[in-house]
Amino acid sequence: MTTTDEKYWAEYDGLQHAKHQLLRSYLGGWFPILSSWQGRVLYLDCHAGRGRHTTGHEGSPILALRLLRDHRHSSKVLSETEVNFYFFEISQANYQRLTEEIDNLGTLPSNILVFPLQTDYENHLRKEFSDLRAKGQQLAPCFAFIDPYGFSISIDFLNEILSFPSTELLVNFMYRYVDMAIRHENQADNMDALFNCEDWRELIHISDATERSNATVSLFSNQLNAQYVTHMYMLGENRALKYALIHATNHRRGRELIKEAMWTVIPDGTFTASERDSPDQPVLLVPEPNLEPLKATVWDQFAGSSVESSQMHDWLIDELYLPKHLRHILREYRNRGIIEASGYEGRFAFKKNPIFAFPANRPD
Ligand SMILES: C[S@@+](CC[C@H](N)C(=O)[O-])C[C@H]1O[C@@H](n2cnc3c(N)ncnc32)[C@H](O)[C@@H]1O
Repeated sequence: MTTTDEKYWAEYDGLQHAKHQLLRSYLGGWFPILSSWQGRVLYLDCHAGRGRHTTGHEGSPILALRLLRDHRHSSKVLSETEVNFYFFEISQANYQRLTEEIDNLGTLPSNILVFPLQTDYENHLRKEFSDLRAKGQQLAPCFAFIDPYGFSISIDFLNEILSFPSTELLVNFMYRYVDMAIRHENQADNMDALFNCEDWRELIHISDATERSNATVSLFSNQLNAQYVTHMYMLGENRALKYALIHATNHRRGRELIKEAMWTVIPDGTFTASERDSPDQPVLLVPEPNLEPLKATVWDQFAGSSVESSQMHDWLIDELYLPKHLRHILREYRNRGIIEASGYEGRFAFKKNPIFAFPANRPD
């Protein structure tokens, strides 16, 4: 057992908490969507861990299982859908504890199937994928969570998961270790596998720490074959980036869900969590989101034009703001007589897809 391993399970810091909150919030929305898929759905936790920290806090496999079991739509989801949870854990000791934690949950509903595997996730899944392809079959809709201690992940493998039609990835990108590894030639092969290109060699020449972390996360994100990539930033004690949680999907609904989940976990819209935040600290005041940046981009985009509400909502998918934020500012502008809404009958409602006319210049 390594020191990293022992230390990791002995504590439960603000970042571990934020990561689990994000997973909880995302899965709370993802599980009900499953009921529309019918058949089998896969949940792949590629670095499952022990299932519980020494502090008593749940690890990712147990929180995911309990979330589905106790979800208010659980019986609806499970009436048509079989959810297969694959938990990969390479360490014998951690695997042993994980299986005990799973056993402690007692009997689960029959359509929740749990497969803990003491093996390397990549070897196992690559073989499964090549068997599927040989038979001309597709992977069932799947959510994969990649949460290693370090940076030993291959983007080529992540893209293999994304190449199947209904897949979503949540990757813990261990920036702090990557930033050290790019300086060591003996890590070159790992860096090549991580980025699947040699552009990482340029990163070391960026002297500004924030610029370098942004460039590193962007390089990795751009190498993912996903239409939508969404980030949550996790800062260490020194307020520097420690890791980034990266969600990747080719599905609009997945992007919408992760945006909602990130706003739930980080209500100020910075999508940045800090190690200093105590996991057990009660939230006394939920901060109001700052809608000024959204207003600015709305005017950049739509000044002087007339646009349907649905088109504005389509445009919003690439922004981090949510439909409720857009509606809030449209309502405000309409009430102040700054924009006009037309093309609907009766009372104004967004669901009637009104057309909004923006003046050429943003008023003060
Ligand atoms: C950061 S911990 C996982 C934490 C867990 N996802 C959670 O949130 O509770 C990483 C775990 O991955 C396991 N691991 C490392 N390499 C692995 C591999 N190649 N295949 C499967 N498990 C691995 C480690 O033994 C360790 O328990």
